[in-house]
Amino acid sequence: QQSVRIAPSILSADFARLGEEVRAIDKAGADWIHVDVMDGHFVPNISIGPAVVKAIRPHTTKPFDVHLMIAPVDPYIDAFADAGADTITVHPEAGPHIHRTLQRIRALGKRSGVVLNPGTPDSMLDYLIDDVDLVLVMSVNPGFGGQRFIDGQLRKIEAIRKRIDATGHAIDLQVDGGIDRETAPRAIAAGADALVAGTATFKGGPQAYADNIRALRGAT
Ligand code: DX5
Ligand code: ZN
Repeated sequence: QQSVRIAPSILSADFARLGEEVRAIDKAGADWIHVDVMDGHFVPNISIGPAVVKAIRPHTTKPFDVHLMIAPVDPYIDAFADAGADTITVHPEAGPHIHRTLQRIRALGKRSGVVLNPGTPDSMLDYLIDDVDLVLVMSVNPGFGGQRFIDGQLRKIEAIRKRIDATGHAIDLQVDGGIDRETAPRAIAAGADALVAGTATFKGGPQAYADNIRALRGAT
C-alpha cells in the first residue's frame, strides 16, 4: 500500500518568499501543494487568489491541491483551473448546486474534491460520491491554521472510508486541520490516505521541513 500523501498548506509559509517556500517543501518531500483560498466571507479570514496560484505554479511540478473557502464559489472555478490547480475542492455550502460545480471541475479536466465541515454529515456524500476524486474532512472549522484537531471527526473519517471502499473507486480521503505527529497516526488509522499540514510542516524553518514531513508520513 502506498504511504500517506502529505500536502503542506502554504497558508503557514512565509508569504514574502512564497516561491522559495514552495520549492523548499517540494524538495523536502511534499506530495501535493495545498493552497487555502479564503474570502473573508465564507470563512473569517482572507488569504490568496488565482494570481498568486499562477505566480507560484512554475516553482514546482507537484500537484496543486486547491481548497476553496469562498462563496459563491462557481464564478471562480475556471480562474483557479487556468491558474494551475490540479485538484479543486469545494464546500457544498459555498454554492447553490454542488453537483453542477463538481461536474464543472471535471469538465475542465481537473480532479474534483468535496469538503465536509465539522458540522456537515457524511450523508452529504450519498448522491455526490460518483462525482468526486477526493473527499476532504475538516478536522477544524475552516479559516485559520494552528487550531486544535477535533477528535469527533475521526468517526466521520471511518464512515467515509467505508463509503469509499464500497465504491471500488480510487477516491482520496484527505484530512485537514490540526494534523501533527500525534494526530496524524490517528487520522491514518481511521482511514485517511492524505493529510494536510500547515503548522506542522513549516515549524522550525526550511531546514526542518524534510524532517517534519517525514515525521507525519512515518507516522504510518
Ligand atoms: C484551515 C485550512 C487548513 C489549515 C491547516 O481553514 O483549510 O488547510 O491551513 O493548518 P494547520 O495544519 O496549521 O491546522
Ligand atoms: Zn485547507
